[in-house]
Amino acid sequence: MKGIILAGGGGTRLYPITKGISKQLLPLYDKPMIYYPLSVLMLSGIKEILIISNIEYIENYKRIFKDGNELGLKIKYAIQKEPKGLAEAFIIGENFIKDKNVCLVLGDNVFYGHGLINILKNAINNVKNEYKATIFGYYVNDPERYGVVEFNEMGKVISIEEKPKKPKSNYAVVGLYFYPNDVIEKAKSVKPSNRGELEITSINEMYLNENRLKVELFGRGYAWFDTGTHDSLLDAANFIRTIEKRTGLKIASIEEIAYNNGWIDKKQLKKLAKEFEKTEYGKYLMEIVGERE
Ligand code: G1P
Repeated sequence: MKGIILAGGGGTRLYPITKGISKQLLPLYDKPMIYYPLSVLMLSGIKEILIISNIEYIENYKRIFKDGNELGLKIKYAIQKEPKGLAEAFIIGENFIKDKNVCLVLGDNVFYGHGLINILKNAINNVKNEYKATIFGYYVNDPERYGVVEFNEMGKVISIEEKPKKPKSNYAVVGLYFYPNDVIEKAKSVKPSNRGELEITSINEMYLNENRLKVELFGRGYAWFDTGTHDSLLDAANFIRTIEKRTGLKIASIEEIAYNNGWIDKKQLKKLAKEFEKTEYGKYLMEIVGERE
């Protein structure tokens, strides 16, 4: 399974903050926003990752992650010329995905909760064993801002709509999608929506019509943030700070995950930690190095 992080878009909903910087590089408490979705891919065990961003920002991402080798990853980069929609990620990424299945995570989505790794691994298995798409629903109070999934009494999915004026449920579709390889062909057949975008919801509808869509739920114990407004940005940062302070453990520490996954050794972790020496973040990584010496 390959991974794509879509870190494009104009960020206009966060103006003026994003006038000079890519939204997905904004800080969420102690690290850039993109660390959070990247950590989700890493927790899934995905090592080959494509980062898609706008032409003016792609170099910034390259400066942070280079070829990914420092984290035991293989990172490639691609450009989305205009914000033409999430589904375009599979067209832009066709040569990267090749004949593999693929996970798309949005660069501004944050996930947190107990048992996340198992949920992610199950999704990968669904795709591999049943050749079905797997997406996730989360109960929110403002479903009209998202893709919305409707279930019947049996819990079976009956519809998915993008930003409906009258949502048929409170279940928003989160920005994390696991697809079989035929998503590339499906993406090519998507027609632009009223807002002029190739909607991921259209792809999900295609899988639904073929009876090949699984919608798993992130339950009440999970936190999902999309950081799309000034308030949600601050809410996410405050949440992260609260949990990190209380537990002394970092959320989405990609260096720690790389080490725990066995993708980098202690020497490499130490090297990365040295780079951040002056911060709490660096001290945290140094502790991990020390603890296990
Ligand atoms: C996109 C998707 C929507 C999904 C949301 C999750 O919305 O179109 O279906 O629920 O991401 O963050 P957008 O961010 O393009 O408004």
